[in-house]
Amino acid sequence: MQEVLLKTQNLTGKIYIGDEAIDRLPALSRGQKNFVVTDSNVYALHGAFFRRYFEGTEIFVLPAGEENKNFFWLQKILESMASAGLHRTSRLFAVGGGVVGDIAGLSASLYMRGISCVQIPTTLLSQVDSSVGGKTAIDLCGVKNIVGAFYQPCEVLISPSFLATLPPREIKCGLGEIVKYAVLNADIFRLIEENLDTLDDPSFLSSLVYACVAHKAGVVERDEKESGERKSLNVGHTTGHAIELISGLSHGECVLYGTWLETKMAIEAGVCERAHGEKLLRMLARALEISPVGVPDWQVEAFAQKAKSDKKNTGDGNIKMAVAKRLGEWTEFSLAFDDYRASLQNAVESWKREGQVCVQ
Ligand SMILES: NC(=O)c1ccc[n+]([C@@H]2O[C@H](COP(=O)([O-])OP(=O)(O)OC[C@H]3O[C@@H](n4cnc5c(N)ncnc54)[C@H](O)[C@@H]3O)[C@@H](O)[C@H]2O)c1
Repeated sequence: MQEVLLKTQNLTGKIYIGDEAIDRLPALSRGQKNFVVTDSNVYALHGAFFRRYFEGTEIFVLPAGEENKNFFWLQKILESMASAGLHRTSRLFAVGGGVVGDIAGLSASLYMRGISCVQIPTTLLSQVDSSVGGKTAIDLCGVKNIVGAFYQPCEVLISPSFLATLPPREIKCGLGEIVKYAVLNADIFRLIEENLDTLDDPSFLSSLVYACVAHKAGVVERDEKESGERKSLNVGHTTGHAIELISGLSHGECVLYGTWLETKMAIEAGVCERAHGEKLLRMLARALEISPVGVPDWQVEAFAQKAKSDKKNTGDGNIKMAVAKRLGEWTEFSLAFDDYRASLQNAVESWKREGQVCVQ
């Protein structure tokens, strides 16, 4: 089992990676009142896990899906926590993907101004990224993650065994966040570049979890509240979120498209070193051709308008992106709205000419 420590101002969290990680559960659930949040798919597929570790514990089963990461279900969870009689010393276990992790983590942060929280991520995306770093949130008014809190879990238990039931679409979703780390970390870039043929193999992807988590933990320790370096974790996300909101394709796939388009824009603007940028474009195109392949309807104007309302923008009318600069280095890239729209249009045309060839 591998371990990563994450020291922040208020808490030193521990992240355990490996099938033995869940062996920590009996000790973690002893000595206080516990509460579990999971979703309907995870609950149905992993009944034996819940019976083994959480027999007799109150389990809140959220209907699966991003559309339920909202105020209505946040309130339902908090009401259930109150009627279960949780108090300050109680502990919440979030067992699921990023949706469960985000809404359950926010519930833990709000209940009695904060109770202990353990994250047990069950999707590749949540194992590699969302369960670590303490960002919790719900969506509101069509804007993702606009209501939330920074709230660190005391432990994150990452067990690859959960991935056995994950559909290919969700594996690809995790790939979107993994390739993000390839932009930020030279070792991860090289590892992926050397293994482009096994990019769809869950056990190869799972072997990257430790490196990604260790990278993220370092970034979060240096910049917990995203005033600087943590913005790097938004690589591909400005355009990716915009595509996701308009097209309804999966988050990871949209992040892959977003990273491809933003990298292309950065190369053309001279912000990203061309030779490195082109290698990255090939890696992203390879990731995008992994099944199942979703192709958005290329509504550039609609994407640009959504990018304008992205919460990473600071209100000066510019669109802010985190992009690759050279191997293992990133930079902020800001464009005035009209320039962003024109540059995105060119990048989409390039994708149709160059990138899409790889998707056939
Ligand atoms: N907090 C952060 O730092 C952070 C970072 C990235 C993304 N996010 C958020 O994470 C969410 C996306 O996370 P996600 O991709 O895990 O989505 P998700 O939680 O919706 O899970 C995807 C699907 O997989 C199912 N599932 C979960 N575990 C499974 C398993 N082991 N076997 C079979 N099916 C399983 C779920 O029921 C769901 O249908 C978004 O809301 C995004 O905003 C948060």
